[in-house]
Amino acid sequence: MSGDTEQDGDKMSKPVYILNGPNLNLLGTREPDIYGSDTLGDIEARLNTLAGNAKIVFRQTNHEGELVDWVQEASTQAGALIVNAGAYTHTSVALHDALRACDVPIIEVHLSNPAARESFRKRNFVAPVAKGTIAGFGAQGYELALQAALKLIT
Ligand code: DQA
Repeated sequence: MSGDTEQDGDKMSKPVYILNGPNLNLLGTREPDIYGSDTLGDIEARLNTLAGNAKIVFRQTNHEGELVDWVQEASTQAGALIVNAGAYTHTSVALHDALRACDVPIIEVHLSNPAARESFRKRNFVAPVAKGTIAGFGAQGYELALQAALKLIT
């Protein structure tokens, strides 16, 4: 159907947003036994290669409101949204509400597996509004998430 083709083309031409929350700027030196030794820059470079012709927008912030602003932006500008909200995963109703209102497929990523860690990490405000979650595979989780996102929008 011509209508469908038009819509799909629109989604495909939009970038995949990859948003990272607090302390993920410290990757590489922060608890490498848990989070690995790749920096966020290393991860971004690999995702750019994996993306090929597709576009990605890759950002990190330590500020909850900025993350909320970017989720709102993704709702109109992105084809899909990958989010590692760091500790805001476990605390932020504002982020949950922004994601709930976001009109594109959401994939949640964590380097570690929060479900296998401290009990305060078991509460999750992102998972209920995500299409799916990839956790526990280290930096490779971002690549798995991007593959899933690209499949969703192509
Ligand atoms: C994390 C898991 C969170 O519990 C933690 O607060 C982080 C990183 C992860 O990628 O494993 O900052 O999101």
